[in-house]
Amino acid sequence: MNYSERFSEVSRAMGSSMIRELVASTKNIPDLISFAGGFPSPRTFPKDILSEIYSEVVKTEGTDVLQYGQSEGDSLLKTELAKWDGYPELSLDQSLITVGSTNGIYYYTRALIDPGDVVICEAPSFLGCLVAFEAAGADLRGVPLDDEGIDLDALKAAVSNARAEGKAVKFVYTIPDFQNPAGITMSYQRRKNLIEYCLAEDLLILEDNPYSRLRYSGEAVPTIYRIAQNEYRNTDLVMEIVSFSKILGPGMRLAYAKGNEALIGKMGSWQQKVTVSPDCVTERVAARFLQKNLMDDHIAGICDFYRPYLHKMLDCLKSEMPDYVSWTKPEGGIFIWMWLPEELNADELFIQASQHKVTYIPGSKFYPRGQEKFNCLRLNFTYSSMEQIETGIARLGKLIKSI
Ligand SMILES: Cc1ncc(COP(=O)(O)O)c(C=O)c1O
Repeated sequence: MNYSERFSEVSRAMGSSMIRELVASTKNIPDLISFAGGFPSPRTFPKDILSEIYSEVVKTEGTDVLQYGQSEGDSLLKTELAKWDGYPELSLDQSLITVGSTNGIYYYTRALIDPGDVVICEAPSFLGCLVAFEAAGADLRGVPLDDEGIDLDALKAAVSNARAEGKAVKFVYTIPDFQNPAGITMSYQRRKNLIEYCLAEDLLILEDNPYSRLRYSGEAVPTIYRIAQNEYRNTDLVMEIVSFSKILGPGMRLAYAKGNEALIGKMGSWQQKVTVSPDCVTERVAARFLQKNLMDDHIAGICDFYRPYLHKMLDCLKSEMPDYVSWTKPEGGIFIWMWLPEELNADELFIQASQHKVTYIPGSKFYPRGQEKFNCLRLNFTYSSMEQIETGIARLGKLIKSI
């Protein structure tokens, strides 16, 4: 049977994950050092305590949590999360638990996007979300970043251009803290300016926040959601989605979204259709983890663990890279972004790098289709050993200098 002719239009347009294919293409190279993936270190997973809590939860609450659960998420977990996150006043209707932030963002998109609607994203941005927007038929417009985050003049131009074309601009998608892939954190002032602009122009903001708590130095910047609430008395403009993938482990598939009640309701309806509910056992385990007051110390431990790896990679880049290469210097997160001279193409360099037994993700993969830049790449520093960082960055530096 020829299935390709039977697929829906959306499925036909869907490609396989370019990043997965790239990573797979290097899988069998012996002694390859990979800075490509976006994986947290398994050494940060709180395995012992989680195994105790899983067992306890199933034993003592199994009757409840092995049953079908609430589509909008476990009320106990939502209450615990709201307290932990500093929003004790948040009502249950203003938040939703999802199966990782990927699902939350998918539901947000399904709730808001009709084919042809414009979504503004940072360029570069997280590919996993860009493909979700595209699958919903969104017209994606990328806006560059500078050291302080999304470039507001470019954002304004993108919005006016889209409107001049008669398009509806639905939301701005941003990863303000330790952005994936660029490692940039949006400044406080830029967050305020973005809020003011979006309020004036009646645009929504989707704040994707998997990394803000992974800060290894410097001062935390309040989330866009918090600034909107505290300084503009607005809880409707921004939806913030917090993922626990880099905190508890991506295999738990746990995230929570907060924002406008009606929108949360629609997202909950989507969740009911797609997954019925998140995994009720995992939800209750996370709730008990929070009730036992374990989260903050656990996160502090992850930060202590990652800090030397970030410093190691930054030190190695400083000593191994030629001066015509630049890179971001994040204070947290899991990625560093590198700019090569205009004439160097990181997609082409990828093949040579693999031959030199080091790999990364070419930056072009993080741009909306047709808006790619090729003289850039992403490096992950949380999955390699210190020795691998040293050797891998030395290999990459030697290769770049040789071209
Ligand atoms: C910016 C960003 N958003 C979303 C995700 C997906 O997170 P989750 O595992 O919660 O689906 C990631 C994971 O790498 C990410 O970097």
